[in-house]
Amino acid sequence: MKYDLEPGYMIAGKYEVLEKLGSGWEGEVYRVRERAIGVERAAKLFYPHSDARNRATKFYARKLNKLRQCPILIQYHTGERIEIRGTKVNVLISEYVEGEILASFLKRQPGKRLTPFEGLHLLHELALGVEEIHKAREYHGDLHEDNIIIRRKGLSFNVKVVDMYDWGVPAAENIRDDVCDLVRILYDVLGGKRTYRKQSPEIKYIVSGLKRSLITRKFRTAGHLRRHIENMEWE
Ligand SMILES: Nc1ncnc2c1ncn2[C@@H]1O[C@H](COP(=O)(O)OP(=O)(O)O)[C@@H](O)[C@H]1O
Ligand SMILES: [Mg+2]
Repeated sequence: MKYDLEPGYMIAGKYEVLEKLGSGWEGEVYRVRERAIGVERAAKLFYPHSDARNRATKFYARKLNKLRQCPILIQYHTGERIEIRGTKVNVLISEYVEGEILASFLKRQPGKRLTPFEGLHLLHELALGVEEIHKAREYHGDLHEDNIIIRRKGLSFNVKVVDMYDWGVPAAENIRDDVCDLVRILYDVLGGKRTYRKQSPEIKYIVSGLKRSLITRKFRTAGHLRRHIENMEWE
């Protein structure tokens, strides 16, 4: 099933579709303009198959609202229920984030990867943001290159993460998964398997050969990872 809304389509009589931003298993995301005030927003339209009894919509909206003080997350605005070609569809309206998906940003880089220093800056920014989620005893649950919106800013990056996944009631295990996902992102942005053998001991200490038990022993939460990056010694 696909919605494939055309530019100009009005969502709930209030939000004008400007362009499709992306789509995945859960639904489709559009850049829209809130007509009454002329402000751009993002509208996520869930597919019914991934949203039984509105569970996915409610989960995402509630979690974004609970974590609205976390600057790495998008701001939730409102929810709408509309009908498209006879199907009832839940729509979640949130802040529109300008920037580029990490996956496509990487493809534009020389060698399709970041230098170790850039990678560490990016990881630091991500860990700093996810640390706030972990402090609230919550987790993201789906950290990867397609859920990270990135913009270069001075020495470092501005980052936002979208699309949280519902693994149930937050547990220490979910927080450890986020940490492992963050470490995996460092490994990937530096070139993955192609370059890992040649990376410095400092990078290898963090990536730990992607061994979960090693990573989680060193960094229990995103905060531990963030502090390590800030204080690491160079050989
Ligand atoms: N608030 C937003 N601002 C800008 N782009 C967004 C926003 N939310 C999602 N996107 C874009 O839409 C894509 C799909 O959104 P996502 O929430 O990850 O849905 P899915 O569950 O289908 O993966 C993202 O990869 C991103 O490119
Ligand atoms: Mg996604």
